[in-house]
Amino acid sequence: MSQHEVFADFPAGRPRRLRRDDFTRRLVRESRLSADDLIYPVFVAEGKGLRQPVPSLPGVERYSLDTLLPVAEECVELGIPVLALFPVIAPELKTPDGIAATRPDGLIPRVVAELKKRLPELGILTDVALDPYTSHGQDGLIDESGYVLNEPTVEILVRQALAQAEAGVDIVAPSDMMDGRIGAVRQALEGNGHIHTRIMAYSAKYASAFYGPFRDAVGSASNLGKSNKAAYQMDPGNIDEALREVALDLREGADMVMVKPGMPYLDVLRRVKDTFRVPTFAYQVSGEYAMIKAAGANGWLDEDKVVMEALLAFKRAGADGILTYFALDAARRLKG
Ligand code: PBG
Repeated sequence: MSQHEVFADFPAGRPRRLRRDDFTRRLVRESRLSADDLIYPVFVAEGKGLRQPVPSLPGVERYSLDTLLPVAEECVELGIPVLALFPVIAPELKTPDGIAATRPDGLIPRVVAELKKRLPELGILTDVALDPYTSHGQDGLIDESGYVLNEPTVEILVRQALAQAEAGVDIVAPSDMMDGRIGAVRQALEGNGHIHTRIMAYSAKYASAFYGPFRDAVGSASNLGKSNKAAYQMDPGNIDEALREVALDLREGADMVMVKPGMPYLDVLRRVKDTFRVPTFAYQVSGEYAMIKAAGANGWLDEDKVVMEALLAFKRAGADGILTYFALDAARRLKG
């Protein structure tokens, strides 16, 4: 039945009746945002007492473990279910093969273990990708031409994911876009007794210019230079391909899938959700955050209102949750 048949014509039908008062607007609202929907991405580095602003991400800082703890505590207080960790690796530890990513005593495993010890109720998600660890800034091993090699990269990613799982991480999130990596990571997790480790696959991850400020934050931008990630991340023109990527990742053992970036890709999110009906997440990426911050700082947009509207739009488009640098701000607003 089409909507034209079930709703009365004007004037019997007046859509504005339900919009007149706040109580009816609340009563008939279809989508809602709650703190339960939010995943907070943070940047963590070695050291003590570190709170280092990221210029292209105003309001975002790089933390050391000790300064991250109060942030994590606030997430718990506000009801944010998951903290996502991204490492800032010292330049001297970066190598062409990014092997530091596999170290069981590396930065991320140590931070994971400590957070899980102190705040067991807070979910921890870690990124599985090599770009913070490679001297060239690509997400994997490269050949002489700069092409990122698939299987050799997957081998290292598997070791990285295992080191994170051994440290007690709840969710591993491969963000590298190699073929077959979800299956390989799942098999290794199962084979090593990590049967509860969840995989959130960055399934439809596009080769996007919106990641610029993130690359500043982890210090991969200058290493990457003029090269790009188009030979493994998806072409922004494609949507059928996103469905194939999601199907592959689900068959290989992903528990949850992701579409990334967020706002410019809400059509992809909607199609993925409608097609597969599985837990589907969106990443409002660094460039989206920077745009809203810049417009807010200039007085061109009302930042608070735009943030809440944008996050609600993700829910309306089918997201079960959103990775967003606005998570703390939004959760504070939702609370008070
Ligand atoms: C690493 C990774 C990136 C992001 C998340 N994980 C950068 C990239 O792929 O270049 C981007 C997140 C953001 O822009 O906020 N593979």
